[in-house]
Formats: sequence, structure tokens, C-alpha cells
Amino acid sequence: MREKQDTIYRDIPELRIVERDDAHSIKSFVLRGTRLKPFQIEAVRAYYNDYVIPYTGKVTDFDAIFANGKPLVIEIGFGMGVATGLIARDRSQYNYLAIEVFLSGFTKLLDKVGKENLTNVRLMRFDAVAVLSQMVADGSVSGFHIFFPDPWPKKRQHKRRLIQAPFAQLLAQKLAPGGYIYAVTDWQEYAEQMLAVFDATFGLVNPHGGFAPPVAWRPETRFEQKGREKEHPINEVWVEKQR
Ligand SMILES: C[S@@+](CC[C@H](N)C(=O)[O-])C[C@H]1O[C@@H](n2cnc3c(N)ncnc32)[C@H](O)[C@@H]1O
Repeated sequence: MREKQDTIYRDIPELRIVERDDAHSIKSFVLRGTRLKPFQIEAVRAYYNDYVIPYTGKVTDFDAIFANGKPLVIEIGFGMGVATGLIARDRSQYNYLAIEVFLSGFTKLLDKVGKENLTNVRLMRFDAVAVLSQMVADGSVSGFHIFFPDPWPKKRQHKRRLIQAPFAQLLAQKLAPGGYIYAVTDWQEYAEQMLAVFDATFGLVNPHGGFAPPVAWRPETRFEQKGREKEHPINEVWVEKQR
């Protein structure tokens, strides 16, 4: 099996690379080694070309790739992708660009998307910060989903949190007028940080004035389940780009 996994790396060398050479030194993720199961290797063989967008570092016309006229939602850090697949199926009036560096989750969602023929989903396995800053045109995104981003709970790790002022500014820059950012976390203090950061970001408004009520179309995610088991509060944050 190990040999087979090496074979896909040989045939698709870009699978080894998830960040730019000149990447900023602080990363919001830790890359875990993954031993893929046979179905995940087969998913790469069967569906990579149709559903995966490689990192090019160039501004990309995602509308032309989807070619169906639907607005674009970008999900950052989809984990195992269970919620992603369900949302793409049930809220099919949008396209979804699903970004995750974790290879096991990436190949699992690829398998689902390919088997279910979810033509409104594309996947990228790369640092989302680089994808947004280099490949996504300003004002082109209708929504961002960031479900249970790594909380980096220790104070000395806070600098690794995704939702901080520069990233929030990047999200705002990429949103179309009226577009949304939907972030959810089970880490109370990070939830408050999200509200404060978005509140201070030029061009974003919070229609709820504080935490938002849950939306009916978001299924429970794996990390949400873990949070609930530990009796953590689940806080929803929904902000919009000014029209
Ligand atoms: C705590 S997990 C949550 C996964 C899933 N959304 C859920 O709720 O079950 C956060 C995920 O974000 C991914 N991630 C963190 N920073 C990222 C980045 N800059 N680009 C892409 N993925 C990232 C991690 O690899 C991890 O799988």
C-alpha cells in the first residue's frame, strides 16, 4: 500500500506541496503525515483531474471553471469534508471551492464529490492564505465558510490563529458587495476574538450585532461534535461586506 501512495506522489508531484516557498513563517496549520486507504488513492486516480484545481499563484477565473453561472463560496479548512458535501448537495445554488491541506480529509471529500458527481464543488490542497491572496480576484466571492478553525488555545500559539486582522482584511477584499463570512467555533475566547476582529475590519458589517443564530443548512461538523462532547459552547459569527 505504501508503494501505491508513493506512486500517486510521483504522478502528481504537486500533492507534496501545500505552501509557497516564500510562505509567511507563521502557519495556521500543522501538516500531519497520512497513510491513505485504498479508496482514497483510487479517488485521486479517478477524480483528481476533474475536481482538483492546482495552485498556480495566478488570478484564476473560477466562474469559467465551474461554467454554470452560480455564485462562489469558499470553504477554508474543511477537515474530513462531511459538512462540505452535504452543503454542496442541499444548497446547490452556489459553487464551492473547498480548501484543505490535510491529505486524508482532502482525498475523502474528493471521493465523495466524484462518486456523487457534485459538479458545483472543486477542491484545492494548499494554504488557503496563499490561494486567497494570489489566485482569487478581489470582489469575486459570495461567501466564506470557516467552520471550527484550529483554536490554538495557548497564549503563545494565538499568533497562529487564522482569524486575525490581516486575514479578515483579505477576506473582506475578496468578498463581493453583500457577500458573507460565516465562521463557527467551540472556543469561546476565539469566538469573541472573531467578533472583535471582524468588527474592526473596514467594509464588514455585523447584521446580528453580536453572535448569530445557527443557520438551518449547516450540518454538524466533526470538530463541532468533539466540542459538544466537551460541553463547549458553539458560537456562530456571520458578517457581511457592505453593499
Ligand atoms: C480544527 S479543523 C476543522 C475541520 C472541519 N471544518 C470541522 O469542523 O470538522 C481545522 C482544519 O483547517 C485546516 N487548515 C488550517 N489552516 C489552513 C490553511 N491556511 N489552509 C488550508 N487549510 C487549513 C487544518 O488542516 C484542519 O483540518
